[in-house]
Amino acid sequence: MKNDPSIEIKEDEIICKCFQVTESTIRSHISKKNIAQVEGVTSICEAGGNCGSCHMLIQLFIDQNKHQKLLESIPESKISKSKNKKGSFWKNLLSNA
Ligand code: FES
Repeated sequence: MKNDPSIEIKEDEIICKCFQVTESTIRSHISKKNIAQVEGVTSICEAGGNCGSCHMLIQLFIDQNKHQKLLESIPESKISKSKNKKGSFWKNLLSNA
């Protein structure tokens, strides 16, 4: 028996079983055409055009694409590392003691 560390190879998973459309194909169409609705994906590559069980994943890819584009549009200097503008809770607590 081999003792090699397991190597996980990510395959391009088929998301739409009805039309055998893979994740990379769907993501690529969403990104290139900036698709905002599942119907947009369906019109380009048929994914989601039958039973609809893949709609949730297609919508997830659309949402992730939107989020990614939004992040790319924000200048690095505008991205705060901390959501709390007042500083750390513990730092404030200890400095006021
Ligand atoms: S799995 Fe995509 S339409 Fe059926």
